[in-house]
Amino acid sequence: MPTALVTGATAGLGKAFTRALAEQGWDLVLVARSGTDLERHAARLALGHGTRVDVLPADLTTDEGCAAVTARLAGDPAVDLLVNNAGIGYERPFLDTGIEAEERLLDLNVRAVLRLTNAALEQMTKRRSGAILNVASVAGLGPAWLSSTYPASKAWIIGFTESLATSRQVRSAGIRMTALLPGYTRTEFHQRAGIPTTFPPAWLWLDADDVARTALQDLRRGKVLSIPSSRYKIAAWGLRHLPRALSRKFAWDISGPAH
Ligand SMILES: NC(=O)c1ccc[n+]([C@@H]2O[C@H](COP(=O)([O-])OP(=O)(O)OC[C@H]3O[C@@H](n4cnc5c(N)ncnc54)[C@H](OP(=O)(O)O)[C@@H]3O)[C@@H](O)[C@H]2O)c1
Repeated sequence: MPTALVTGATAGLGKAFTRALAEQGWDLVLVARSGTDLERHAARLALGHGTRVDVLPADLTTDEGCAAVTARLAGDPAVDLLVNNAGIGYERPFLDTGIEAEERLLDLNVRAVLRLTNAALEQMTKRRSGAILNVASVAGLGPAWLSSTYPASKAWIIGFTESLATSRQVRSAGIRMTALLPGYTRTEFHQRAGIPTTFPPAWLWLDADDVARTALQDLRRGKVLSIPSSRYKIAAWGLRHLPRALSRKFAWDISGPAH
């Protein structure tokens, strides 16, 4: 059986990825901070799908956490698919968040993705096979949130993935890489970040299982960017092609009075 390693596997999109992959017969390595949540979810997956599920508790904002996961990426059995999914955002304006918290966001959303991708690619290029799915956001395409480092961190993931996925080094080794750009998806993300879920309206919310299935299909098809749902394909087109001065007017300003 092929093996997939999924970060942020105990909630939201990560959990949805593990469900979809287990249904498709993948063995799994689940990564998150909470060992109890990991064990509970692993037992449920193993029972429901009969796949082999290992857990790896790690805080990916730390050097030790990243090192534990990069060691597993270099170990046996080989990891055929890496899903860099764990990520955080804040609802507080930039100047109120505090520099330590901002650095933690970059450590998880950017630095861990960099380190894990590097470790996975070293192995995958040797084996001349493998795939990497990096979870970004539609917010990474333009000024969707003001007074936040989150969109910038996701813009980095999009640029990084696109740059590697289409490079000769990666393509000639038969490795597929996709950046997933979800819109608002029902998970624990907003609750954890303290972001109200009363906006946007219900029709704009995506289902995590639908997003995960679409992303895995797009990865199989070799798409470099995966944007689930036509609603967010249109939003993505707007963010990419409308003048930025115009899209800034529609952005969510975390430091604004409405917030
Ligand atoms: N939900 C949305 O609307 C949306 C939209 C666009 C993009 N995204 C992106 O989708 C990805 C998944 O988000 P989600 O909505 O599924 O979030 P979520 O429901 O809050 O789940 C986050 C997961 O990441 C883990 N995690 C958090 N901090 C971690 C750390 N320091 N080290 C290791 N694991 C950590 C959490 O487990 P522990 O707390 O146990 O560590 C949990 O399993 C993120 O990259 C997010 O930016 C989400």
